[in-house]
Amino acid sequence: MSMDTGKPIRRTFPPGFLWGSATSAYQIEGAWNLDGKGESIWDRFVHTPGHVKNGDSGDVACDHYHYWQSDIQLMKEIGLKAYRFSIAWPRVLPTGRGQLNRAGLDFYDRLIDGLLEAGITPFITLYHWDLPQALQDEGGWVKRSTAEAFGEYAGRVSRSLGDRVKHWITHNEPEVVATQGYHTGRHAPGLRDLNKAVWASHHLLLSHGWAVQAIRSYHPHAEVGISINTGWIMAASNGQADLNAARQRDGELIRWFTDPLYGRGYPVDIVSHYQESGGLPDGLNFIQPGDMDTIAVPTDFLGINYYSREVVRSPLPNNAPQQIFPAPKDDQRWTEMGWEIYPDGLLGLLARLYFNYQPLKVYVTENGASFSDTPDPKGRVPDSRRRDYLRAHFIAAHRAIQAGVPLAGYFIWSLLDNFEWAYGYSQRFGIVWVDFETQQRLLKDSARWYRQIIAENGF
Ligand code: FCB
Repeated sequence: MSMDTGKPIRRTFPPGFLWGSATSAYQIEGAWNLDGKGESIWDRFVHTPGHVKNGDSGDVACDHYHYWQSDIQLMKEIGLKAYRFSIAWPRVLPTGRGQLNRAGLDFYDRLIDGLLEAGITPFITLYHWDLPQALQDEGGWVKRSTAEAFGEYAGRVSRSLGDRVKHWITHNEPEVVATQGYHTGRHAPGLRDLNKAVWASHHLLLSHGWAVQAIRSYHPHAEVGISINTGWIMAASNGQADLNAARQRDGELIRWFTDPLYGRGYPVDIVSHYQESGGLPDGLNFIQPGDMDTIAVPTDFLGINYYSREVVRSPLPNNAPQQIFPAPKDDQRWTEMGWEIYPDGLLGLLARLYFNYQPLKVYVTENGASFSDTPDPKGRVPDSRRRDYLRAHFIAAHRAIQAGVPLAGYFIWSLLDNFEWAYGYSQRFGIVWVDFETQQRLLKDSARWYRQIIAENGF
């Protein structure tokens, strides 16, 4: 127990802690059809009316494809130690496999050189949701052949860039890809079929295993992992029905992915639940011999994306994973996404995932908040709510480290205000303000504050 001496507490992070920020290709690059890039499922999705708020698209987004050099300057100004970005698969392999698009690969080549020159460690995400449309035309992640294509793509990219890039994330949030893409239809490719979503989840996991093997075959010492989406899940009451519903939600969201990744197979309660929901008419026959071992290939770290908690009340609407929050919204406890601010959930998840699954290392690969504060006449963006959000979560992360979690880095989502998927440009997560008309960037106050934290490795 610590005595309250009234003195501020100094929180210092481990030496070499990787303070970073994250983005993804589709959300910032723009240049959707330049220099030989192929069409992705998100290009197709946004160009179909009705899918995205205000009809927004990522056609131009932050035009990072042309602004990457000044964007690296911004990162340098903030003092970032690491930068997590994703590669647009169809920029490199326009139809998903086969002919390489040199110009596309060159873009990432230059970006990486620029980052290294600036002293910033690149973390590459190989899949942040922009599947080549040509592979979707064959069925996308429902098909095993897409997983095979991903393994090849991972090999080709890592062979070219792995001399300089030491940190690789195979997938970003496979649960979101499967659920929102194939079951709720809120994301590309916009399908609504539970059976397809379950098949997709298996092929995403399988492709992760193949990608890890492919990267290691060229670069045995590369650090490779995966980023999962999480949420701190609680039952709305101690009643058995609510407890069961929370357990089910946790199974769908987290255990369905982490259990097989750490060699435990798919959780039987969720298999039964999918079967009872009519979601697996053919059982588990998407699993072929050896698949579960491939999925459980040892990795070097687990990436955790954390934003909020979910309070779950029974009954869960049939087949609809859904968040049910306890209280009406008030500004203090909610971000503009409608996500509750709940920093203790980050501590809880870091501890649970580390002590339960024993990854060698953990990174927070995403955490951040949507607040739309605008520049004042002096060009300052006073986003104190984002700073408070981050500060509270940094404290939670620090407590996890003190409890023994080998947390090695933290990536704020996001470096830039950007295209927030189905929300279009209505949500701003950046620590850097972007004017989407002029492409002007301004460091928000949170970025200036972050600079100091990075410089002192704590606060
Ligand atoms: C995560 C996504 C990321 C961003 C944040 C807000 O689920 O990985 O691209 O949209 O949410």
